[in-house]
Amino acid sequence: STSINLAVIPGDGIGQEVVAQGLKVLTAVLPQDVKLETRQYDLGAQRWHRTGETLPDAELEALKHHDAILLGAIGDPSVPSGVLERGLLLKLRFAFDHFINLRPSKLFPNTATPLAGRPDIDFVVVREGTEGPYTGNGGSLRTGTPAEVATEVSVNTAYGVERVVRDAYERANSRPRKKLTLVHKNNVLVYAGHMWKNIFDKVGQEYPEVTTDYLHVDAATIFFVTQPERFDVIVTDNLFGDILTDLAAAVTGGIGLAASGNINPTGAFPSMFEPVHGSAPDIAGTGKADPTATILSVALLLRHLGYEAEAVRIEDAVSADLAERDGTFRSTDAIGDALAARVAG
Ligand code: IPM
Ligand code: MN
Repeated sequence: STSINLAVIPGDGIGQEVVAQGLKVLTAVLPQDVKLETRQYDLGAQRWHRTGETLPDAELEALKHHDAILLGAIGDPSVPSGVLERGLLLKLRFAFDHFINLRPSKLFPNTATPLAGRPDIDFVVVREGTEGPYTGNGGSLRTGTPAEVATEVSVNTAYGVERVVRDAYERANSRPRKKLTLVHKNNVLVYAGHMWKNIFDKVGQEYPEVTTDYLHVDAATIFFVTQPERFDVIVTDNLFGDILTDLAAAVTGGIGLAASGNINPTGAFPSMFEPVHGSAPDIAGTGKADPTATILSVALLLRHLGYEAEAVRIEDAVSADLAERDGTFRSTDAIGDALAARVAG
């Protein structure tokens, strides 16, 4: 296509600052003949304080008509926990059926990580995005009393599991190592765990070239730290994937570098790209936020829209920039400028 109609949701805290840098690099990397149209959506804590709204129907409807969404971060300590997360971020993931939450982890050069100097680490977590304990299926009885009972039911459908597992096999099959690891906890979560494993084995018959492995989630956390090179593609449920991808980010260069895509591969709705990190209210407005995770999320966005060469240009620029980082402080804006200059070159 020769135009990109992008929705931008900067959101809260450092979301504003990092998204500005993402757009700067996107503009710099796109060929002249690609027309970039953006529309900013004022959603997040400030909007909620002003109007009480998190994501009104009119805006949800308008968002549907974009090619993709770039999101900064959602969440603020002045808003009760869960209001914006459920009412905005998760609402978008559910409404647009973002069943693939794609979170690549790569050990970039010269990054401050406990794993520096280790063999190449390059894996991708395919986190289920629309089910598990995130559906809001639960409740509380006798709330606030000593006899309170709270449930939080993990919802797993064969349809939902099969489509994410199939997507993960496709990704594994197209990578050189062709290895797929299922992470769950089927020694305890026997109903969902066995369904995941059965579907994983069944779909695997269609991918004879893909080597498979299974790990319980607790064991997987050990290997993330001691032997991360054993992973190629990982498929896992929504909550396990949430936790594992923060760990993955921490051990491969820090949360300032971790990108993600909330993807609906059918194209029925726009996919949404965002850094894995949150709104970091403690450093908001100080210029300390690293925009690299957002800029790498822009690369995922471009790849999703078919701009593979441009995605690679961004990723190469980040590698080169990281290789030259020497610990000297650079502001959010300065990192954005440096990367924009590299991709434009
Ligand atoms: C993430 C975040 C979200 C999640 C929160 C903010 C709802 O932690 O994108 O990983 O749990 O998915
Ligand atoms: Mn998370």
